[in-house]
Amino acid sequence: MPPTGSMLERPYVVLSCAMSLDGYLDDTTDERLVLSNSEDLDRVDAMRADCDAILVGANTIRRDNPRLMVRESWRIEKRTANGLPPLPTKVAVVGHGDVDPDARFFTAGDTEKIVYCATETACRTRDRLDGRATVVDGGEPVDLELALDDLATRGVRRLLVEGGSTIHTLFLTTGLADELHLVIAPFFVGDSQAPRFVGDGRFPWHPGRRATMAEVRQMDDVVLLRYALSDRFQQA
Ligand SMILES: NC(=O)c1ccc[n+]([C@@H]2O[C@H](COP(=O)([O-])OP(=O)(O)OC[C@H]3O[C@@H](n4cnc5c(N)ncnc54)[C@H](OP(=O)(O)O)[C@@H]3O)[C@@H](O)[C@H]2O)c1
Repeated sequence: MPPTGSMLERPYVVLSCAMSLDGYLDDTTDERLVLSNSEDLDRVDAMRADCDAILVGANTIRRDNPRLMVRESWRIEKRTANGLPPLPTKVAVVGHGDVDPDARFFTAGDTEKIVYCATETACRTRDRLDGRATVVDGGEPVDLELALDDLATRGVRRLLVEGGSTIHTLFLTTGLADELHLVIAPFFVGDSQAPRFVGDGRFPWHPGRRATMAEVRQMDDVVLLRYALSDRFQQA
């Protein structure tokens, strides 16, 4: 990976997630918890189509088995008309490396897949994934700043981060997020064993330094809260 502070500009990072009224990203059942609604799913589809890469943590791959693709064909066509690859690159951050090579992250969509893996398990993960993704030794643990620098060298200018909790916590506590899109679903989970939007940490936004609200948008029964988190914030 390139040394920290390479000349290329760090990708613009948008964090995106949906949570319950009591701040949970999921419940503890085996079923996937639906927090979003159709209007919001379309908004997320548009955000995916607008980015160069989509990043998730290893547990989100294990638990949700997401495809991370653009759904609407007209958006894919618009990307190609603009000289972009049909689908954004998929990016994962992996620690102990136990990710299923048959997960949809790896099998769905003819697009580049990059895995930033902790040093100790990088070789094993490379063997396990057997060419289904480019596995990059990301440090021990994976250094997000270096991963972003590396993504910049691969042409990623806009990165959409879709969770989960550990990944959002890391991006926020390290001050590497430029924008946050938080959707609130109109129900409670009420189970402290479930993953919250973020875990413990020292966040750059606190009572003495409030984040900047950029937009509030109602979409049927959910609401989108959009926050500007850096001076690079781009009003869309
Ligand atoms: N509602 C939503 O919008 C939404 C979106 C996405 C996910 N989710 C939910 O979020 C939950 C998953 O969240 P989570 O916190 O458990 O997992 P996560 O954030 O998806 O992934 C965490 C994993 O990423 C790897 N990782 C993170 N930082 C690392 C670093 N610096 N170095 C090396 N590895 C690193 C580790 O992988 P290893 O385990 O390999 O060590 C870690 O266990 C699921 O229940 C999912 O349903 C909800």
